[in-house]
Amino acid sequence: MDPNGAGPAIHYYMIRGGSAQKNATIWEPGTISFEYIKTYGHYHAGDLSETYWIVYGQGVALLQKLAIDEKGNMIPDDVSEFKAIPVSPGQEIFMPSGFGHLLANTGETYFVTMDDSPVDFEERDPASLPGHANYELVKKMQGFAYYVVEHEGLPALKKNPRYKNIQKEDLGGLPVIE
Ligand SMILES: [Fe+2]
Repeated sequence: MDPNGAGPAIHYYMIRGGSAQKNATIWEPGTISFEYIKTYGHYHAGDLSETYWIVYGQGVALLQKLAIDEKGNMIPDDVSEFKAIPVSPGQEIFMPSGFGHLLANTGETYFVTMDDSPVDFEERDPASLPGHANYELVKKMQGFAYYVVEHEGLPALKKNPRYKNIQKEDLGGLPVIE
């Protein structure tokens, strides 16, 4: 939300084991200019769904599907469906194919998940981003359609003004602030 905001140098850590062994992600707690620390967010290249298991802490998952133009390309600023889901340990979150996804740590501890995303171990740089994921659309729009922000000590949503349209949304009971 705020590219100039101050925060920890590293926001989250990933240990990659792939679909058989699973991948672990650990988020730092905290906020950057009121926005909770989150994963970058991505869309999958190709037809690929993913399951996340919430292990520890408190978080909010954001899922969004973009509208498609006549040529079959995603329209960066037109969201056909948006979902915000507050999550707790023991919960399982399914990221359907076509839905971009990210998770934010809204608690005061580390937030920990496991997921079954496939991993390409042939990559030369082990710290690179996963090859099946598309981060460009999220970068272009500076995030998803809403930011997860702290408001009076609790999680709330703040609209990302760069998006022109959201056709359908389920905000998971979270308030929206200006
Ligand atoms: Fe993913």
